Amino acid sequence: MEITSSSCNKSKILVFGGTGYFGKHVVRASASFSHPTFVFVRPATPQMPPSSLQLRGEFRSLGVTLVQGELEEHEKMVSVLKQVDIVISVLPVSAIPDQIKIIDAIIAAGNIERFLPSEFGCEEDRITPLPPFEAFLEKKKKIRRLLEASTIPYTFVSANCYAAYFISLLLHPHDPRPDLVVYGTGEAKAVLNWEQDVAKYTIKVANDPRTRNRVVIYRPPGNIISQNELISSWEKKTGRRFEKVCMQEDELIKLSQSLPSPDNIAVSILHSVF
Ligand SMILES: NC(=O)c1ccc[n+]([C@@H]2O[C@H](COP(=O)([O-])OP(=O)(O)OC[C@H]3O[C@@H](n4cnc5c(N)ncnc54)[C@H](OP(=O)(O)O)[C@@H]3O)[C@@H](O)[C@H]2O)c1
Repeated sequence: MEITSSSCNKSKILVFGGTGYFGKHVVRASASFSHPTFVFVRPATPQMPPSSLQLRGEFRSLGVTLVQGELEEHEKMVSVLKQVDIVISVLPVSAIPDQIKIIDAIIAAGNIERFLPSEFGCEEDRITPLPPFEAFLEKKKKIRRLLEASTIPYTFVSANCYAAYFISLLLHPHDPRPDLVVYGTGEAKAVLNWEQDVAKYTIKVANDPRTRNRVVIYRPPGNIISQNELISSWEKKTGRRFEKVCMQEDELIKLSQSLPSPDNIAVSILHSVF
């Protein structure tokens, strides 16, 4: 990566999971703020979709350094970590327990100024959700407790709901249908934060001395909205009327008990948010 005058005083950021749904926004945000940016990616395979190869090409064109490796390659991770200051993990839930390998490598490298583990959802220490969501959050909580007991400076980010992800789930904007499901009464207020904003804010939070060893919750007042308000805004914008199909709390609870994983987790998340 070319170190320009605007980037030479900036912290160097390494992202794990940077090619993912949310990770790509974090990599773009880091590069856009002129941080020398590194992404630890698994080696490309012939089965890899063209969109993933394109994304890797886009990162290279932004000056991002791609380091190919597996989380099992401890020495390789340590040598990359020694070149950076900040580590942001945006690995998927399936790989959350594997972050122990990143933590071991951070301890061995000994120079990391901040680690943000893959969280970016609810404030998990403050809620008591249905069992499938609780089991899902337990994996993230284990990593929290490990970091709190370590000497690694950390920040836990609670991003609340990704806006594009939840709007797609609630309003189906690309699949015109006459009816929309309303979970619960439709009056519960949720925080919907646009993925690109979450990513930009995360780069700022990772560099802010005030957020060292703290939980940061993204809850801008303008982003707090109920499902009923969201549907009414969508009706105004599209000029259409939607039939509301209500799914009450007891139905969500029953589904969380009967659906297979991961659908039981999805309905438990909806129960928790709405
Ligand atoms: N708040 C919300 O509304 C919301 C919604 C969705 C997700 N989230 C959270 O956002 C975070 C990121 O999730 P995501 O959906 O963006 O992730 P994702 O797209 O499923 O995956 C991210 C990347 O991780 C890498 N990866 C996958 N499995 C791996 C493994 N076993 N070992 C190493 N690398 C692996 C892949 O990159 P390579 O193949 O290139 O290595 C993948 O592109 C999670 O903490 C998730 O819970 C929050």
